[in-house]
Amino acid sequence: MLFGPPGAGKGTQAEIIVEITGKPQVSTGDMLRSAVSQGTKLGLEAKVFMESGKLVPDQVIIGLIEDRLNEPDASNGVLFDGFPRTIPQAEALAEITEVSAVISIEVPDEDIVNRIVGRRMDPITGEIYHVLFKPPPPGTESRLVQRKDDNEDTVRMRLAAYHEQTKPLGEWYSNRGILAIVDGTGTIQEVGHSVAKAVRSI
Ligand code: AP5
Repeated sequence: MLFGPPGAGKGTQAEIIVEITGKPQVSTGDMLRSAVSQGTKLGLEAKVFMESGKLVPDQVIIGLIEDRLNEPDASNGVLFDGFPRTIPQAEALAEITEVSAVISIEVPDEDIVNRIVGRRMDPITGEIYHVLFKPPPPGTESRLVQRKDDNEDTVRMRLAAYHEQTKPLGEWYSNRGILAIVDGTGTIQEVGHSVAKAVRSI
């Protein structure tokens, strides 16, 4: 499981873990955004919470995860990205399956806002870029999109939700002896190196 504040680099570093472990990435944020863009009942319900920087209710997320874990590619384990986000979600997950390791990417709040407002996504390849820290290849700039919740006001709400509801989970997993902490303040490559080292030592 990848753990950390919004914009810590969970999605960016998930790639390395998927490469090392061969397990599929399960991002509740991506699943919710897909439901929003398809206009499903779940998407309509989630949209209001996401755009105001609040967490989507636990029962919605737990239902989504139960369905996802029943898919064939999840039978040998998955990499959770952005889930669980609350103690009730972690408790529900513990009833379904065992979490073997949690990698926490630590980044101070003052770096988060810059990372989030500069993020862009390529809708064709799914690749995540940053206007300064990971510029897109020439010729692709015009097709890049910015998430609706990637603005300064919403980021501050997301950070508040993180500190209040999600951060306590770090201690919850630390008490279970499965938390590895990675300094997320270096370059993408430096953090990737630390993440790979942490995964290989598990
Ligand atoms: P979600 O999509 O999970 O958003 P998040 O947790 O806020 O995380 P992000 O995707 O913003 O950041 P990231 O850590 O993946 O960073 P990234 O690698 O892109 O959730 C969105 C919303 O959905 C939530 O607010 C909530 O409403 C809802 N939701 C989702 N899951 C939920 C759940 N379980 N329960 C309830 N609600 C849920 O990097 C960010 C940027 O920084 C990029 O531009 C990247 O290029 C750049 N970058 C990355 N690493 C570095 C580095 N080392 N140095 C410089 N720049 C870097």
